[in-house]
Parts: sequence; structure tokens; C-alpha cells
Amino acid sequence: MDWGMKNRLSRIIKPDTGRTVMLAVDHGYFLGPTSGLENPRKTIAPLLPHTDALMLTRGVLRTSVDPNNDIPVVLRVSGGTSILKENLDNEGITVSMKDAIRLNVAAVALSIFVGSDHEKETLLNLANLVNEGEEYGIPVLAVTAVGKKMARDVRYLSLCCRIAAELGAHFVKTYYCDEFEKVVESCPIPVVIAGGKKLPEREALKLAFDAIQKGAVGVDMGRNIFQSDHPVAMIQAVRAVVHENASVDQAYDLFESVKSSK
Ligand code: 5RP
Repeated sequence: MDWGMKNRLSRIIKPDTGRTVMLAVDHGYFLGPTSGLENPRKTIAPLLPHTDALMLTRGVLRTSVDPNNDIPVVLRVSGGTSILKENLDNEGITVSMKDAIRLNVAAVALSIFVGSDHEKETLLNLANLVNEGEEYGIPVLAVTAVGKKMARDVRYLSLCCRIAAELGAHFVKTYYCDEFEKVVESCPIPVVIAGGKKLPEREALKLAFDAIQKGAVGVDMGRNIFQSDHPVAMIQAVRAVVHENASVDQAYDLFESVKSSK
């Protein structure tokens, strides 16, 4: 891995802890103005000081994040589908590597849909993106989307993460599951977890805690932060779990105290 690739990755996965708190706000690329993201600029701004890296689309980056921010960007470069159609797995690459570089990203991200009708296309999207990423020193994050027919279990998620690693992804985002340690142990690249659907804050903090305990290097969380009634308190609590090894109780106490201090 060349210097540039390592340097970009270290902007996302912090060297002092080996961990990361990424804020995912890329949902609109197929969901449109989903709850909590109606006004991306308003949602993102207060969370930036607590965010290690921002996962978003180029449209939201250009319109809703001031370029004078020193926030590492993980750019969503796959898409071409919408919630109106069944075939969410039929994604293509929507951003050129040239434009990603122009946007000074720290990494690019795409979804792979293992087991879906478009499995092959999305896996070849990954392979081609890695080829380009390697040429320019841009790390690639593979996002393991879970098709409707797939069970979000250790067998399936281990398969997805390992395929992503085998095809050359530099890090992978997946979901937490029972026996999650087996997903991490059989995946030779760093694993971060998505938060998934909105949970009560304490449950979401437990999810992050359990994932870290079982070997995840961090989270790339969206809805469980920006759909919280107290997003700033929530991201600070998530940070305590990820970067300070706080317990769920400690993190929840922090959430409560930041919430009441606002
Ligand atoms: C949406 C995504 C999101 O980046 C990912 O799901 C993380 O967000 P959340 O924590 O809300 O699940 O890939 O397709």
C-alpha cells in the first residue's frame, strides 16, 4: 500500500486508537429526503466536530458541507436506483475517480449485493473501483448491502466481507450480528459497522459496544445518530464507546448529561 493510500486511510481510521466514528449521510442517493436528512447542511454541521469521517454523496458534499472543513470524506460512488423500484441491487458507478480526486476525498465507497440478481455487476464494480483506487492511492470502502432475501447472519455477512476483501477493498462496512467475531476473524481488512434502522439510544450504544468488543474498528453510523432527538449527544456517546472504550452505561450517562446540558 503506497504512502498516499496509507495517509488517506489514517485520516479515517485514527492511528492513536486504530478506530473510527464515521457519520453516514449518504442515504438520499436512493431514499431521497429521508427523515433527519431533509436539510443535510443543518443535520451535518453540529455533528462535524465529533465526526472522524463523513460518508456522503458528491451532491450533498458540494451543496451542504463548507470546503473549509478539514473533514475526511468517504464518497459514495455507487447508485442509480431508488426506493420506488424493487431492484435496489442494480447499482452502477455514479462518480468518476477523477471527480472523486477533484473533491479531495479520503476514500470512495460502493455497495455490493452478494446473492442478488446483480451480484456479478456489483462485485465487478468493486474490482474496477479498486483498480482505479490503487492507481491513484484512493482507498475503497465496500458496503455489504443485505438483499431482501438474505439473512443478516454470521454466515452471510462473513461471506460478503471476505469477498470484499478478496476483491481488494481496503476496508468494509457491514452489519452487526450474533457471533460477529467470526465475521471479523475471517476478514483480513478493517471492518466497520452500520447502525441500521433507528433503535433506542441505549440499544444503539450497545450495538456499537458489542461490535468494538468483537473486533470492529468502528462505526459508520447514520440513522441512529441523525434520527436521534439529540444527535450531538448521541455521537459523543458513540465516540466514547469507540475511542475511549466506555461501557454502555458510561456512554449512556454521557448521552444523558450532554442531552440535558443543551
Ligand atoms: C445507506 C448506507 C448507509 O451509509 C449505511 O446504512 C449506514 O447508515 P445507517 O447507520 O443509517 O444504517 O449505506 O444505504
